[in-house]
Amino acid sequence: MKIIVKKKSEISKSDLVVYCMRQTDEPQKGFDIPPDLLGFLTKALASGDFVAKEGETLLCYPQTTGKKNMTDRFMMVGLGKDQLSREIFRKCGGTIACAAQKTKATTIVVVLPEELDFPIKKMSQSLAEGLILGNYKFLHYKSSKKDDEPPRAIIEAIFCCTKLKETKSGVEIGLRGANAACRARDMANEPANQWTPGHFATFAQALAKDHGLKCTVLGKAELTKLKMGGILGVAQGTAEPPKMVVLEYHSNKKVPSLLLVGKGLTFDSGGISIKPSLGMHEMKYDMCGGAAVLSCMEAVALERPQGLNIIAIVPATDNMPGPGALKPGDIVRQYNGKTVEIISTDAEGRLLLADALAYGIKKFKPDMVVDLATLTGAVIVGLGHHISGMMSNDDALTAKLDAAGRESGEPVWRLPLNKDYSKQIESKVADLKNVGDQGAGTITAGAFLQEFVGETAWVHLDIAGTAWNFTEKSYVPKGPSGIGVRLLLELIRSW
Ligand code: BES
Ligand code: MN
Ligand code: ZN
Repeated sequence: MKIIVKKKSEISKSDLVVYCMRQTDEPQKGFDIPPDLLGFLTKALASGDFVAKEGETLLCYPQTTGKKNMTDRFMMVGLGKDQLSREIFRKCGGTIACAAQKTKATTIVVVLPEELDFPIKKMSQSLAEGLILGNYKFLHYKSSKKDDEPPRAIIEAIFCCTKLKETKSGVEIGLRGANAACRARDMANEPANQWTPGHFATFAQALAKDHGLKCTVLGKAELTKLKMGGILGVAQGTAEPPKMVVLEYHSNKKVPSLLLVGKGLTFDSGGISIKPSLGMHEMKYDMCGGAAVLSCMEAVALERPQGLNIIAIVPATDNMPGPGALKPGDIVRQYNGKTVEIISTDAEGRLLLADALAYGIKKFKPDMVVDLATLTGAVIVGLGHHISGMMSNDDALTAKLDAAGRESGEPVWRLPLNKDYSKQIESKVADLKNVGDQGAGTITAGAFLQEFVGETAWVHLDIAGTAWNFTEKSYVPKGPSGIGVRLLLELIRSW
């Protein structure tokens, strides 16, 4: 979708004109709509059929008495009466996209409610995010049949406003984040027989080439030379070659550096500790952390933030029960030398993340680290599908992520880490074991990762509950949500 910003006088006919309305007893101050529409709306309000509740829409086809260049389809969108926030405008954008898709409109005009007491730049950013994210569809594998109507989506949206400059810059910022999140959704939607570790590598290499970033791909030979026994162990059971993808953005300034690590498990069958077949197909989404991290780097490459240098690492492989597969009871040696007893081959994510974290910290000496991973089913038990689990060794970095989560609409909630949990992953025969006993599955996974970050400030985000099946919202369709992309971007932008 294209989003264009124009003044009212520059806009000619479109398929649909959208107005955003607060739910108030008094008529909205400065609400300027055509007289034909006002009659229609007044009736709808009087009948009580439409009250401008959040998420409510009203399509209008008022008599436009044959005037030339008049749009004859209008929509009112409710903004509700809660305090205005970025999330309300984001959801409003999503509502517009969903409602417009049910009509034949493909070009729409959104009249920005500039009269409301809310910063225009943030309003236009959030509306743009909601529109793009709500308009998202994944259709790569749908062949169009002859009599089928093509699936409708908005092709062009015009933001009608008076403050062109602020609106344009808001839209630009919104587009970068939302497009990157859609990219992450695309990667996740691709099936595992299409999106392999090699595809992460190709994506990162293309990004590096187009935007002057540095990309290094470690293949099986390099991983072996570097003694990364975690990722290699997991990859033993699959014919698909593993990759560790490293992408570096340098602002060319002496600024703090941030390391991002994303779990890129392109398919998690569980390995020898095989998963039940019900729902196993969803484990093609086990690469959502990696997708978020690399998609975020696309936005970073375009935006070139000056406050941080950013390195992204995605360890990527399938987890399959092939003939060479890791077995329960096996012991592997991670990159930092620590040995791990494999209790379940299904607790594979932490093994690749451990190598990536230890390697990234040793090589790049970052000031802080954030990792994202669909790591445990237990986080769904604890937090459901609304909030990502957060574990950390650093209060300041935690506070920053918490704030970024609120602003971006991708909230996080901190869980504890302490020595008692670390004790749960002590092994009798090795330094650690990969499954902790006696509950707290999400936290013991976090405690495992903590063994590989040393003193570096680090946050671990368990996105198993939010990477797909995320809270139902107008701008989050079923399937992968693209979670993490806008959260990380908010963290980077607010640095
Ligand atoms: N990728 C899964 C976690 C997962 C489960 C994500 C459900 C999304 C939905 C991870 O690799 C896994 O299998 N974890 C195990 C760990 C257990 C064996 C300690 C789990 O959560 O069951
Ligand atoms: Mn697993
Ligand atoms: Zn997994």
